[in-house]
Amino acid sequence: MKRRDFLAAGIAGAVSPTILAKSKKLKTNKNNPVIISTWNFGIPANEEALRALKNGGDAMDAAEAGARNAESDIENNSVGLGGLPDELGYVTLDSCVMDSAGNAGSVAFLQNIEHPVSVARMVMEKTKHVMLVGEGAKQFALSQGFKEKNLLTEKSKKEWKKWLKERREMTPHETHDTLSVLVQDKKGDLAGACTTSGWAYKMHGRVGDSPIIGAALFVDNEVGCAAATGLGEEVIKSTGSFLVVELMRQGYNPNEACQEALNRVIKAHNGNPDFQIGYIALRKDGKVGSSCLKWSFDYALHKNGVNKLNNVKGLL
Ligand code: GLY
Repeated sequence: MKRRDFLAAGIAGAVSPTILAKSKKLKTNKNNPVIISTWNFGIPANEEALRALKNGGDAMDAAEAGARNAESDIENNSVGLGGLPDELGYVTLDSCVMDSAGNAGSVAFLQNIEHPVSVARMVMEKTKHVMLVGEGAKQFALSQGFKEKNLLTEKSKKEWKKWLKERREMTPHETHDTLSVLVQDKKGDLAGACTTSGWAYKMHGRVGDSPIIGAALFVDNEVGCAAATGLGEEVIKSTGSFLVVELMRQGYNPNEACQEALNRVIKAHNGNPDFQIGYIALRKDGKVGSSCLKWSFDYALHKNGVNKLNNVKGLL
């Protein structure tokens, strides 16, 4: 939709009474696990998540396993090991998890630890807190037995040195893609995880949406869960994933909920945002949805025993 048409349609922020009227208690999808992850690296992430479920793990175990897969993938330059560094050459990681009981944990600006998602889970399970950052997060990780590791690979270092010569401001969609994974296990319980090295060559100290509960990830075991990828600053400002889940609570289906959350971003940017946000959503009845602002977006879906990459076109 062109900016002009969008403004003329006036759909942003509109809440349809028919949709509200559809609100009702959702039937829980059981004995048919569903796993949905962002981007093409969601395919192997989903496979790992499924393996965790087959080994008797629950939705949280599976979401963590999926995220760990992306964190160790050396070819993936936007998550964990091999992630592109900030402007000073440091690989800084953000991650969060949320389980079916509404517990949450997160880490931000964590360095030299390969699996921030597992540290986030330990913050959730072993501390009274939700979020640890920077050196404190690292010290906590080390105290829990995690080992320090240099995450800046030769390939990423070379890219960074090339960037240093030009210092061209990279648009986030050029340089980073977050791994977010949402899981419904055979009991019908929901959980999710999100992990990233964030915007390549970002300011030292920048934290995106990925460790922010309600922004990059939100799980409500009665309704559904949602997760984000894209420009973290805008996901934070619109409390994106929380909004998607709340819209599903009101009766929007998962696709409509993702679209309506993005419509609000479009409206806030006068119909013409120049960045990308993509949402994935998984409802309690096992239905999934996705939408993105611009261009297109891939998500990996494991459902009914098939793990497949899907593409959605941008709303604009
Ligand atoms: N969505 C990831 C980030 O902005 O860092």
